[in-house]
Amino acid sequence: MKLFRLQPEIHKFDKFSEFTEEFSIGEKDIIVVNNSIFDKFIKELNLKSIFISPKKYGDGEPSDEIIDKVLAEAAQYKFDRVVAIGGGAVMDIAKFLVLENVNNSIDVFERKIEFNKTKEFIAIPTTCGTGSEVTSYSVAEIKSKGTKMGIGIDEFLPDYAVLIPELLKNIPYKFFAFSTLDALVHAAESFVAPGSNPYTDIFAEKAIELILKGYKQISEKGKDYYSEIIEDFLIGSNYAGIAFGNTGVGPVHALSYPLGGKYHVAHGECNYEFFTPVFKAYTEIAPEGKIKKFNDLVISILELDKDSDLYAELDKLFNFIWEKKKLSSFGMNESEILGFTESVIEKQQRLLSNNYAPIEKESIINIYRELF
Ligand SMILES: [Fe+2]
Repeated sequence: MKLFRLQPEIHKFDKFSEFTEEFSIGEKDIIVVNNSIFDKFIKELNLKSIFISPKKYGDGEPSDEIIDKVLAEAAQYKFDRVVAIGGGAVMDIAKFLVLENVNNSIDVFERKIEFNKTKEFIAIPTTCGTGSEVTSYSVAEIKSKGTKMGIGIDEFLPDYAVLIPELLKNIPYKFFAFSTLDALVHAAESFVAPGSNPYTDIFAEKAIELILKGYKQISEKGKDYYSEIIEDFLIGSNYAGIAFGNTGVGPVHALSYPLGGKYHVAHGECNYEFFTPVFKAYTEIAPEGKIKKFNDLVISILELDKDSDLYAELDKLFNFIWEKKKLSSFGMNESEILGFTESVIEKQQRLLSNNYAPIEKESIINIYRELF
């Protein structure tokens, strides 16, 4: 049984320019980065590299259409390396550029072609969430199917993950909140996943601790404090990525995909919706297994009383970070609860079955209804 794989090589620099020097970034590099980051940190360096901004093909979370347009643009150039600088969306799009002879991303998601990696891949996160810089996953909205699809293949695993805290200074609060909530869900779903083991637990536990302790400090010192401790979150989300890169994520992600796909709710905000309801359901279904260790861990990190209502306390803390909305406020209709549930069961089985305890149809309906 495979326990743990650790790739990429991880680097850290104080300044972006130190990275470009150390890695000799030049004309054979294609850099996938959105204009806001380019203008702030890259423009002044006058690099000779090729730049592609996915944002010009569509905003927000990646879709198969955006990936295909980026692939078409990249096909005009000769390059040896791919450098992705951005949040999960940019990294998940850039991963397709390392493959030879791909012009249609659905062929990849549906595994219709042979994968041949021909480029080196460097991933540099500018949010503290997805952990995409250390995982083999890419997730995108498939426009024609009205939901999201994910794929994890070794070819997508970056060769280098480069952490540069400078890039996260002044990250808007909203992105901070959504990306760190996503990272926390990665660590939590990994910790209780069937494939979790002492190696993955080390990273998951430390990620949970860094993120929850950070939230606690923010709740005590005020929201502006997040930028003071952003490095803890960058490292926490990286640890969470290493953990779930080995175990996968589970039902929280499964339940969030129809909402994110249909109503374009940010990935982290979707996961936030379903996190505590799914973990509360786990605690009710099988209270004595790994979920007990998770609950005890959170109680000790947050210094709560042993008999306190853990999930009420967590919801209170999370609500300070970002106020949780009703599903109806995203535009969802009550009549869609059954359809969303069926879509989860039909299309997200890979995630749904990677669970601590089975979340059956009735439970999924109840969770959507409770949040509606
Ligand atoms: Fe996620």
